[in-house]
Amino acid sequence: MPKERNRMSPGQLFKVYRQVERITQQCLSGKGNIQTLTFNNSSIIQKGMTFALGIEVLKYHNIIDKIINSSGLFKTKPSLKKDHGMLRIIVYEALLEKRAEMTRFKSCGQDMKKSIMNYPKYSKSKTHQHDNPEIDLIRYIRINTLKTTKQNVIRKFQELGYSYMSFADALESETFTPQNKFIVEDNHLPDLLALYPSSSHLHDMDMIKSYEIIAHDKSSCFPPFLIHRELAGKLGKSDCLIDACSAPGNKTSYLAALFSKNKIYAFERDTSRFETLSNRMMLSGAKNVECKLDDFLKTDPSDPKFKNVKAIMLDPSCSGSGIGHGSSIQKDRLLRLQQVQLKLLTHCFKFPNVQFISYSTCSVCEEENEKVTEMGLEASNGAFEVAHTFPEWPHRGLESSPIGEHCVRVDPQRDRTNGFFVVCFRRKN
Ligand SMILES: C[S@@+](CC[C@H](N)C(=O)[O-])C[C@H]1O[C@@H](n2cnc3c(N)ncnc32)[C@H](O)[C@@H]1O
Repeated sequence: MPKERNRMSPGQLFKVYRQVERITQQCLSGKGNIQTLTFNNSSIIQKGMTFALGIEVLKYHNIIDKIINSSGLFKTKPSLKKDHGMLRIIVYEALLEKRAEMTRFKSCGQDMKKSIMNYPKYSKSKTHQHDNPEIDLIRYIRINTLKTTKQNVIRKFQELGYSYMSFADALESETFTPQNKFIVEDNHLPDLLALYPSSSHLHDMDMIKSYEIIAHDKSSCFPPFLIHRELAGKLGKSDCLIDACSAPGNKTSYLAALFSKNKIYAFERDTSRFETLSNRMMLSGAKNVECKLDDFLKTDPSDPKFKNVKAIMLDPSCSGSGIGHGSSIQKDRLLRLQQVQLKLLTHCFKFPNVQFISYSTCSVCEEENEKVTEMGLEASNGAFEVAHTFPEWPHRGLESSPIGEHCVRVDPQRDRTNGFFVVCFRRKN
């Protein structure tokens, strides 16, 4: 991203910042999620950069707001209150030691910098980032086994000055500082590496550009991983899988890598997101994926081409409350999302030979998670059961739900990866 920025004129960069400001404000007030607001709007320029910067600002908005408030800036310059959203972006940029280029904010730059450096949590995070869950979600990269091997990736990181550590060694280690660069194996997913410090710049790395590695949040890797664990070695050559709601396609390309010998139908109904999906599949070498610009709900499960569909990954549109989209989501919006999620889930049950279905959201709301699971189970009329999903993951669904213990929840504060929910359904014999 920094190189991309350098190529942009200050005017273009300003436009991107304004877009991020508007989109993040809308997300935080519960008016939509960042993916839809970025990719479904044809007037947005530099969609990838806008999305990436927006995600980061949302992730850290709590601590950024604390820094802004503790700077006393709004007291000395109350007129800046109307630019709160833009200030968040500038603080984020300053935190990562990039240069905020907004000349009209230059006058407050020094005050802001001082406040940031004096802010207790930030100064602590300078020496011990992993101690600060509020600001420091772990940054993960997934090894794209369609293009390379784990050994190659580790070697290339070592050439870039990173040390490799096993998970067990990392637990014991006292040496995590921003001055030391590490890649650490993940304790659950073999294709995943955690990157320290989390502010490492990925966008310039050749391995990212060549799609040998893909920035992929840990929790978002769970659905493909769980489907593979269930069906690995059990599928014949003619068996296939469906990704019902695919774009931008991070999970799709992981599924494609795990089931490289099987065909995957990847549905996406939105035209511009479909382009992103198709492009990413091409660049990531996912030749076994057939991208379909179609509404999954309009597919005919009795179509002969779906006869051998054995698994479906369903990751529908959701409120995005797990990736920092505020706690102020309106109940009626949640219920509208719930209805669509349930419709999609019950459509999955109609595929005649499907054995295993993952249902996931990046939401932390019960309405979109345990409730959809409960209602889906009932709608399956006894044909499916809720699988005891990812048993070794310690954090389960809500205790108040009868199926809660079978579900997986991920909490950013506790697990240091984005908020997420996943549950799997297995056909009963
Ligand atoms: C949460 S995003 C999926 C993210 C994706 N699984 C990933 O990991 O990159 C949901 C996507 O599903 C698409 N979608 C929603 N309803 C759909 C439907 N009925 N048929 C096909 N695509 C749909 C949305 O346009 C959106 O791109």
